[in-house]
Amino acid sequence: MTLQELLQFKHPIFLAPMAGVTTPQLAAEVCNAGGLGALGLGASTPAQALQQILATQALTDAPFQVNFFCHQSTELDAAQGQAWLDYMAPFFSRYHVTPPTALSCIYPSFLDNDDYLKVVLETRPKAVSFHFGLPHPQQIQALKAAGIVTMVSATNLIEAKAIEAAGIDVIIAQGIEAGGHRGVFNQAVDSAITTKDLVQLFKAHCQLPIVAAGGIMNGQHAAKMLNLGASAVQMGTAFIQCKSSNASLAYREALFQQPITQITSSISGRPARGLVNHWHTQVDQPERPTVPPYPYTYDLAKQLHQTASAQDEHHFAAFWAGTRVAHIRALEAADLINLVMLEMKMPS
Ligand SMILES: Cc1cc2nc3c(=O)[nH]c(=O)nc-3n(C[C@H](O)[C@H](O)[C@H](O)COP(=O)(O)O)c2cc1C
Repeated sequence: MTLQELLQFKHPIFLAPMAGVTTPQLAAEVCNAGGLGALGLGASTPAQALQQILATQALTDAPFQVNFFCHQSTELDAAQGQAWLDYMAPFFSRYHVTPPTALSCIYPSFLDNDDYLKVVLETRPKAVSFHFGLPHPQQIQALKAAGIVTMVSATNLIEAKAIEAAGIDVIIAQGIEAGGHRGVFNQAVDSAITTKDLVQLFKAHCQLPIVAAGGIMNGQHAAKMLNLGASAVQMGTAFIQCKSSNASLAYREALFQQPITQITSSISGRPARGLVNHWHTQVDQPERPTVPPYPYTYDLAKQLHQTASAQDEHHFAAFWAGTRVAHIRALEAADLINLVMLEMKMPS
């Protein structure tokens, strides 16, 4: 069965699941325009995930994917946490607020909480994708038994082979160009392979359908990936300017005004690519202590951004974006999909 038959989309264009940015409205607009909609639910509670899925199902009958995080839960080393709190305290003092004194695990992993699985089995979205690793074998079995298509991000061939061996249906080839968190299973190792090279590598060595993700902003970029053997493309940054995304005005302006990106682990504890700001230029200094694990670090970053943005300062935001952000266009989802489809047919 082809990916198109499996997921029943008209156009091979997937909205990337983007926690905090995708909305039921955006997902449904993509679906209703013939692409595959998505909900990034990794930062949601099970109750919020349920509400978002139901809201999307109320807006479209077309299939869409939902996405969760499979990070390995790590205990926070007290000394490491304290060193990070101490290092970051002066950044809070700039805004005349008391720095936090503890770091919390703000997002449970799909691996640790079967409540997310229950929501999925109850609502039966067409597909579920995972970032940061594989779900447990029994979770994969439960999804398969329910007829739900499973997809996992891979950033190198070792991860892609593990995805195949686990019985997952689709590999998402996330290249180094991608905005947002790197899907690396083991964050100590990032092969930093481009999307194009990953698609070619997986095409040569894997059997599963491949979805290309990272740096795909227009039809020319998409056509290249499909010509190399990808069955579809997954676009994140390109959709952030859509009116129905959850992006703030400051985020939307920054995407146009400072389209330079870099990867840092300082924001969340896992490597992620976003617009260059104080995290990259001021926090990532040679004397910076070891960054505590995900998502403890993210707890502090969110508090710092909240504090700064309340004073109309956005230099500590997590404005995730891919390397090709300068190609971004402010279009509605349906118009973007139609234009990308048109561009795909034009000679490059
Ligand atoms: C704002 C933003 C948030 C993201 N959040 C998620 C997420 O929650 N889950 C996920 O699997 N990928 C997430 N990603 C990564 C995307 O799935 C995808 O790999 C990436 O957007 C592709 O690169 P591009 O942004 O250049 O199109 C996010 C990306 C962005 C830009």
